[in-house]
Amino acid sequence: MRGAETNAETNAGAPGADSVRRLLSDDGRRLLAQLPPYDPDRVLSVTDRLRADGHAPDLVAAALTQSALRAKATAKFGAAAAGMFFTADGLEQATRPQIAAGHAQRFVDAEVDTVFDLGCGIGSDAEAFAAAGLRVHAVDLDPATAAIAAANAPSAVVEVADATTVSIPSDAAVWLDPARRTRGVADVTGRTRRTFRLDELLPSWEFVTALGASGRAVGTKLSPSFPLSALPPEASAQWVSYGGEVLECAVWFGPLADAHRVSARLVDASSASNDVVVHTDSVAPSADSIDDVDTYLYEADRAVVRAGVTAALTDAVGGVELSPGLGHVSTDQRIDVGFARRFRVLETMPFNQKALRSWLRLRRIGRVTVKKRGVTFDDATFRRDLKLKGSDHALLLVTRLAETQVVLVLDPDD
Ligand SMILES: C[S@@+](CC[C@H](N)C(=O)[O-])C[C@H]1O[C@@H](n2cnc3c(N)ncnc32)[C@H](O)[C@@H]1O
Repeated sequence: MRGAETNAETNAGAPGADSVRRLLSDDGRRLLAQLPPYDPDRVLSVTDRLRADGHAPDLVAAALTQSALRAKATAKFGAAAAGMFFTADGLEQATRPQIAAGHAQRFVDAEVDTVFDLGCGIGSDAEAFAAAGLRVHAVDLDPATAAIAAANAPSAVVEVADATTVSIPSDAAVWLDPARRTRGVADVTGRTRRTFRLDELLPSWEFVTALGASGRAVGTKLSPSFPLSALPPEASAQWVSYGGEVLECAVWFGPLADAHRVSARLVDASSASNDVVVHTDSVAPSADSIDDVDTYLYEADRAVVRAGVTAALTDAVGGVELSPGLGHVSTDQRIDVGFARRFRVLETMPFNQKALRSWLRLRRIGRVTVKKRGVTFDDATFRRDLKLKGSDHALLLVTRLAETQVVLVLDPDD
């Protein structure tokens, strides 16, 4: 690993570079390998035992913290977490490996040879690039984080530097996953505060767009709340979901940009080749009245809604969107769509709590699951006023339709 030994501006709550280096040493790795599976109730007894065995208290503390992070990281990295290194911030910000594999594939498809990962964090994207056969030059400002990236992505060249000062060969591609954290500002847990503002990215949005405008192959990972109005004319944006949750908006420049300005990607847990990509040139037709609600209701994946490509769903099922931009489409056609859930519509009524209460009472419905889209009300008050009695369950969608509020009673049909 190249670069500066110390850095004045380290992440709040992050381990120091020395502590990380000790953990990454042979002694540290041996100690980590000896630890039992992480159990918060056994931390004190394990600490006492390791200290009694002669291990340095600071190394024991660092190893147990790492063990806790590895346990937490299993949710994102699966079994691989057990052999990886993390900081708390680094783990939260790291790209899921399934999504990182998709980023890497895009560079491979564009026949890129070398990627500069500017702000590599703990190296999840960097390792995915390396695993896809790309040469990787990873850079992070924070020495502890960079040391961890070097451990997690062993075939990458890792440098401690300010990304904005690194010289990049003209034929190299660039990946940026800017920190969405306010440096030095800790939240109540001691970790750096998250920001969703484009003007608070590190490295900055201006730096990213200037690199992109150069015509180079550049990709960047941004918050799902990225405003389409900020998308440079030469770039394309892709909202990415995993397990139904929108996790990022990736913006691509130069040879990496898509022909379609906006799209959605639903990432498959098993293989990037099974990802579903959705784009359209159509505009979704909207329902005119409650009478347009038909036998089926389709709920577009949230990445599709964020990307504003619900028209791909209305086209696929020959339906109408209940309310523009909310992603619910109704039709009489029962079709399997890889980017939407399907429900059978059991009842549709104007949103009137008294009428709904009678409807539910008559059917002895004692429990409801409520989905809300485009409407606001207090859940607790709503449930209390329904005065539910009975043992059956109903799924309700409360939403807007042509300026009125409606309730649909739904039955999952997928
Ligand atoms: C969101 S994280 C990257 C996560 C990474 N893609 C992964 O999957 O593990 C952003 C990183 O950028 C680093 N960073 C912020 N500003 C930087 C700068 N000017 N130069 C280099 N690194 C920077 C932060 O230290 C942080 O580790």
